[in-house]
Amino acid sequence: MHIKNLTLKNFRNYSDESFTFTDGLNVLYGRNAQGKTNCAEAVFYLCTGVSPRARRDRQLIKHGEQRAEISATACGRYGDVNISASIWENGREIRVNGNKISKNADLLGNIFSVFFSPSELRLIQDGPDERRRFLNISISQLSRPYYTALLRYNKILEQRNNLLKDRDTGLIYDTLPVWDEQLSKYAAVVVRHRADFVARLAPLAMQEHFTLTDGAEELSVRPQKKYSGSDEEVRDVIFDELRRNYERDIRLGYTSCGPHRDDLDFVINGQDAKNFASQGQTRTAALSVKLAEMEIFKQLSGEYPVLILDDVMSELDLPRRKKLAERAQGMQTILTCTHAERVLCGRQSNKIRIEGGAVKR
Ligand SMILES: Nc1ncnc2c1ncn2[C@@H]1O[C@H](COP(=O)(O)OP(=O)(O)OP(=O)(O)O)[C@@H](O)[C@H]1O
Ligand SMILES: [Mg+2]
Repeated sequence: MHIKNLTLKNFRNYSDESFTFTDGLNVLYGRNAQGKTNCAEAVFYLCTGVSPRARRDRQLIKHGEQRAEISATACGRYGDVNISASIWENGREIRVNGNKISKNADLLGNIFSVFFSPSELRLIQDGPDERRRFLNISISQLSRPYYTALLRYNKILEQRNNLLKDRDTGLIYDTLPVWDEQLSKYAAVVVRHRADFVARLAPLAMQEHFTLTDGAEELSVRPQKKYSGSDEEVRDVIFDELRRNYERDIRLGYTSCGPHRDDLDFVINGQDAKNFASQGQTRTAALSVKLAEMEIFKQLSGEYPVLILDDVMSELDLPRRKKLAERAQGMQTILTCTHAERVLCGRQSNKIRIEGGAVKR
């Protein structure tokens, strides 16, 4: 799977620019603050419907403009697909092959993409939110039932949390079981998909980390909580857990258990990475997890995703850079950096120089 071309209009610091990509290595290079990451961000946005960094879509619109337009054509197993997005102050419209989609679920799965940047260190170092975000974005690309269950779960959770803040405890006790029946049903779908995903991810991440470190380090990825059994069994376990926590939840005013509290542990050579790993180790572990994610896309869809590497080469030592360059062979890679020569390790590439929100031709 690869993206053939991309057009940006009033997107971030771009007014109107087009890019042509090859199915191999594409290097966006140029000085700081010219628009390299912005371009990489646009690619990921068209693949997933979310920006890897902006929390609000309106941040993507060029300052002083009303509307950003982005569009790309990708080529995959099933032929070409065109995706376009139009973003304005209070909304957006996404089209797949010219047809307006009503739900983000209809966008997901058209172009798979894995994004890696230095801020992916947060995956290991930050709180559990980052790890759930990783799982959610990744699994949602692969599974529509997951994405739909997650949206429903979050919606009911919000209503449940509102209820918990009510002063009428009688009403709360009467209503909770009704919410929890629904909540635990969707929770079961979410936790089962996550468990399957992590079960695939863990051995692959271990292998990638082993390779990147020349066998010096062993990375384990472990879910903090394990659920087993059928969907119905998991649903019952979660339903009971919610019930056991009624009193606590009412006291706290929010729901204290469930998949919105799940977390993963990253362990390097037997030690918790979050508290003990060096910067380089953390970076390598995060990269291993992303490469493993890429491999899962390949296993499940038959094609490698578009690999976006934003500014990561400069932070790796030469052997790791070489290994990563080797690893990215055979799949479309969009890489940003300040000095193209330094990161290429002799590989052929499509070099695109970016200056002031434009391609320097
Ligand atoms: N909505 C926006 N409208 C106009 N300009 C923006 C907008 N959002 C970001 N920019 C500008 O885009 C510029 C380029 O940002 P970008 O992150 O793409 O730089 P970069 O080329 O990746 O640089 P670096 O090498 O430092 O990572 C920044 O100077 C930023 O201020
Ligand atoms: Mg950048």
